[in-house]
Amino acid sequence: MVYQALLVLTTIKCLYASGVFRPTQDFQNKHQLDYIVAGKLSLKLRSYKTIRLFIHQTLLLSSIIMANTVVNSWNEFDPLKHVIVGRADHTCIPPNEPATEAKIPEDSDMRGMWGPRPLETVEKANIQLDNLAKVLSDRGIKVDRPSPIQWNQAVATPDFTTASQFGCMPPRDVLLTVGNEILSAPMSFRCRYFEYLAYHDLMQRYFDEDPNFRWEQAPRPRLGENSYQHGYFDEITIDERLKRTAELDFVTTEHEPLFDAADVMRLGKDLFCQHGLTTNRRGMEWLQRHFPDHRVHAVNFPGDPYPIHIDATFVPLRPGLIINNPNRRLPESQRKIFEKNDWEIVDAAPPSHNSPPPLCYSSIWLSMNCLVLDHKTVIVEASETLQQDQMDKLGMNVIPVPFRDAYPFGGGLHCATGDVYREGSCEDYFASQVPGTLLRS
Ligand code: ALA
Repeated sequence: MVYQALLVLTTIKCLYASGVFRPTQDFQNKHQLDYIVAGKLSLKLRSYKTIRLFIHQTLLLSSIIMANTVVNSWNEFDPLKHVIVGRADHTCIPPNEPATEAKIPEDSDMRGMWGPRPLETVEKANIQLDNLAKVLSDRGIKVDRPSPIQWNQAVATPDFTTASQFGCMPPRDVLLTVGNEILSAPMSFRCRYFEYLAYHDLMQRYFDEDPNFRWEQAPRPRLGENSYQHGYFDEITIDERLKRTAELDFVTTEHEPLFDAADVMRLGKDLFCQHGLTTNRRGMEWLQRHFPDHRVHAVNFPGDPYPIHIDATFVPLRPGLIINNPNRRLPESQRKIFEKNDWEIVDAAPPSHNSPPPLCYSSIWLSMNCLVLDHKTVIVEASETLQQDQMDKLGMNVIPVPFRDAYPFGGGLHCATGDVYREGSCEDYFASQVPGTLLRS
């Protein structure tokens, strides 16, 4: 805002100084208000050459004032300098669709409910999101916010309809930052098809401000009947669900490339993708072709009956250290690459709560969904004291931030943020590659 005001003021000054844009004598002689109301501002254009000079000066000035965005982030832990923090406005509980059936546990208070979330809960969530933004900016981290649209609108494409959309509290689900690129994921829920629009203004601005920024969009999926196994989760017990997820049998099919950005853990040259309800093999194959200099790995976590997004399951804290949800351990065959490269995988501390807050999609394991600010500093939810103690013992300085009111809107502290800039470059943390996880061995 300040930059824009400065720019407008300087532009007007330049215009007057260069004589390009000067009210005529006629204008000056009359009462100014009459002219504003009547809209009769008359312009006196000087020569074409002067206009060109003016445009050049203005562009130069605006680039000096506004060239403050650099898009660059290769991992989850290098020093964070610029981040997007989501907003809860207009968030809806979407109606049932093939993919979300699998997401809502049988005993959830959300079963059968859909529509805009209660206003008082939106306000409470926004207070915590605003506070997170303040904590970050007080530490000198630049914070941007998305532009929520009215999510309580139906979507109709040639392939599907849905009666409402979702929200823009969790940018991490949609935006995958890899180096100087921000890629909008396909998204495998129909209600999230247009979620990337909430970030459009920001992407446009980064595009204008950072000449190296790559603004990318994965292929828009069709999300038609063939993309899902219909009725697949009807009447299914948790044991059956666990058996199927362990066998890599998910509600999403391999009909087209599908992935959510939050299924991808970025560790320099290596991208570890959770194969689960929201990301399929074709999605990973698309990522491998899109990022040919990276190595894409497929990981899965058999103990999770709802394998959606990797960031409450497998969370890196710094180079060489990952906390793993003890109920969703990485299988032995997939641990080899970490062991071979001297990475330590430790069981995460138990959550401090027995149940998630009301109307929440996520599990109690949002306790481990933390935001790492640098190799020694991490933000952990304020009531998750067990997780805080563990982080402390692991050598991290912990900043507790209250966030449970925001959980129902799409997750925890990692979900609610999206990287724009972290210092550092693309490191090779896994110089010894071993079979087990590589998409292309
Ligand atoms: N799917 C993750 C969990 O709820 C976010 O554990």
